[in-house]
Amino acid sequence: MERLLFLTGNAGKLAEASHFFAPLGYQVEQFLIDGKVPEIIEPQADGLRAVATAKIQQARNLLETEGINAAILVEDAGLFIDTLNGFPGVYSASVLQQIGLSGILQLLAQKDNRGAEFRACAAIFVNGEIHFGEGICRGLISLDEQGENGFGYDPIFCPEGGSKGTTFGQMNRAEKEQFSHRAKALESVKIELDALGR
Ligand code: IMP
Repeated sequence: MERLLFLTGNAGKLAEASHFFAPLGYQVEQFLIDGKVPEIIEPQADGLRAVATAKIQQARNLLETEGINAAILVEDAGLFIDTLNGFPGVYSASVLQQIGLSGILQLLAQKDNRGAEFRACAAIFVNGEIHFGEGICRGLISLDEQGENGFGYDPIFCPEGGSKGTTFGQMNRAEKEQFSHRAKALESVKIELDALGR
């Protein structure tokens, strides 16, 4: 089995990636240097692909320094709100810290259009090449915070196809997975690797 090192601090994401890549002959492990997830600098880039590429590059340099030969997986996601021209997008994590869910709800207070989407980009570096997979989950921003499950923007995001007005925060993990942008991104990388016979 080939080692696939996933650069993430999130155990849930690790389990999800194992489920996708084990059937292709990869043993998914967390990317650790000296037992810790290394500090990676996220560029102030416009798109998730650029962020994922920068993460892969830094991870490659670290592996080279350590003399480790393995495939690398990274993943990046964000919430893109239609009427805010895609804000917070690639800045989702820092915007959430700064203005919170209430800040986002305030920005949308007088807006009729509450359309938004989660986007995820997964990138895998294997045999000297980077392969990308993207996934989108369309939905609406709710009028107020609902539910305590999940993380991040889950309490204010109602996915298309779910029960009307139900947020990710009100769903259990399996229910959310049916719509997950992340699962779609991983699936699309998997299909590409499959097609290449890797
Ligand atoms: P990451 O790159 O996947 O860690 O995501 C960056 C930020 O986007 C997170 O800190 C969350 O605020 C937000 N985010 C990404 N995916 C989700 C999700 O599935 N639910 C809620 N928030 C998310």
